[in-house]
Amino acid sequence: MIGCEHVAGAMPHYPPSMTDQPSSSSDAASRGPIQPATGTRDFYPIELARRRWIEDKWRTTAIRHGFEEIDGPTFEPTDLYTRKSGDGIVSEIFGVYSGKDEARVKQMGQRLAAGDTGAIAPYALRPEFTPTLARMFAARAGQLPKPTKWFWQQNCYRAEKPQRGRLREFMQWNCDIVGGVPRAEAAPGVSGGASPSVVDIAQENATLDAEIIACCVDLLQRCGLTSSSMSVRFNDRSVLGKIITRLGVDREHHAAAFTLIDRRGKLDDADLEAMAFEFGIHSTEFLTFLKRPRGADDLSTSLNELPVDSREEAAQMLAPLSGLKELLAQAGCGDWCVVDMNIARGLAYYTGMVFEVIVDGERAVAGGGRYDNLIETFGGPPTPAVGFGMGDVVLSLILQDKGLMPSDKQIAADLKLRPDAFVISNGTTESDALVPVLLAKLRRDGLHARRSYKSTGKIGKLLKEASDTHSRYAIIIESETEITLKDMDANTQDRGSREELLARIKPA
Ligand code: HAM
Repeated sequence: MIGCEHVAGAMPHYPPSMTDQPSSSSDAASRGPIQPATGTRDFYPIELARRRWIEDKWRTTAIRHGFEEIDGPTFEPTDLYTRKSGDGIVSEIFGVYSGKDEARVKQMGQRLAAGDTGAIAPYALRPEFTPTLARMFAARAGQLPKPTKWFWQQNCYRAEKPQRGRLREFMQWNCDIVGGVPRAEAAPGVSGGASPSVVDIAQENATLDAEIIACCVDLLQRCGLTSSSMSVRFNDRSVLGKIITRLGVDREHHAAAFTLIDRRGKLDDADLEAMAFEFGIHSTEFLTFLKRPRGADDLSTSLNELPVDSREEAAQMLAPLSGLKELLAQAGCGDWCVVDMNIARGLAYYTGMVFEVIVDGERAVAGGGRYDNLIETFGGPPTPAVGFGMGDVVLSLILQDKGLMPSDKQIAADLKLRPDAFVISNGTTESDALVPVLLAKLRRDGLHARRSYKSTGKIGKLLKEASDTHSRYAIIIESETEITLKDMDANTQDRGSREELLARIKPA
């Protein structure tokens, strides 16, 4: 895990029950320093550098795949999330109140004091970015290219129980493709090229589904991960919808059935059944399907388990999945991807392909899917869309566990944070006075130059400091015209004319 994580048990000044609540100012004064909120992290320089390394991989991968970066507000009207994200995420919202809106705050306070747990704040810290992206696209749909490819990487906030892989504030990288591929206009006098068939649209969508998954896999590969230890497990809600209809679940209960399938890995059979009854689902066929042995559920085993009369019928039902598998193989990431009938995803807005990136024993690294109705929900024209989100928390845990997080020196080099030169005085009064002069010149020349602020005159100690900062060169000032230039990587040094030796230092 990158960053210094704050957990309830690690807070000496507060009993754990208090850690969800910021203390009042008079309490704080009597208790000493204010502790950070549980499930958040502090990032000291090297920890932030590690996070930036991940962010840099995200950004460069997205750009290489043709996505453009966007951003939106940290908080949004709560309605943006209650409309379509689903109960799971809404129950994890951090509410935001405007201190200026006194009447609203007072009213909320009264409702909460009266035990109205359904009272929600007018604004919410974003738990995810997809609703913002849909709102932004809907607002300018007419002027945007088709398809529009956007990426975003910022913080999200969810009031989850902090645990390995899950915090209350985390970074998320999103890549989304909104809109389908435009069709070629028919030449004058040529028939056709008008309205596309359902099959054409499905094929175009599948091409974009494969493009999205390929981008996610490319990022994992660029971090040094391989398909031997992780997989992209995909499914399709439209396929699942057909299956559960045959198992006796009516359309009105499909969303609830997807939630139950999503919880299969987390709940035991008794809890699943109780939850199904609570949702109003009583089909015994569906309950048997829900409680079938958990485990790898690939395309071939699924073929045998489907509620159909023949293998041909089963193959037809699963065609969107086998079609996507083929496209993923063409995109070069077939070995990463497996069909998994257990994947349904928790968010309510998905309509078609859904996927998660899974490593055994860890929470999902990434998840996403197709959401063809969301743009319309926010007032835009009917527009298909597909995308995914990846968090930094699980990714950094996996990279660290597998020894794939580069050394601090490599991270500094990758992020161009290594100082070009570390300036040292040889200990004479004349050289001491020349340190700021040389620093100023190097910085004017566009180099990243540092010095020591230690009072020691011991060159060995100062060279150690130069090495600790991963400087490329150390410059020891011998006189106004002479220096010793030490190449820290090659571990070689030369003494001579200041101007000649400085000319060797080129920006990295
Ligand atoms: P999600 O599955 O809720 O999807 O989140 C995506 C990823 O964000 C997860 O796989 C995980 O890596 C990370 N994540 C989620 N919650 C936490 C948490 N509490 N702590 C740490 N990391 C977390 C979405 O958010 C969708 N909006 C993704 C999407 C984009 N679908 C289409 N476009």
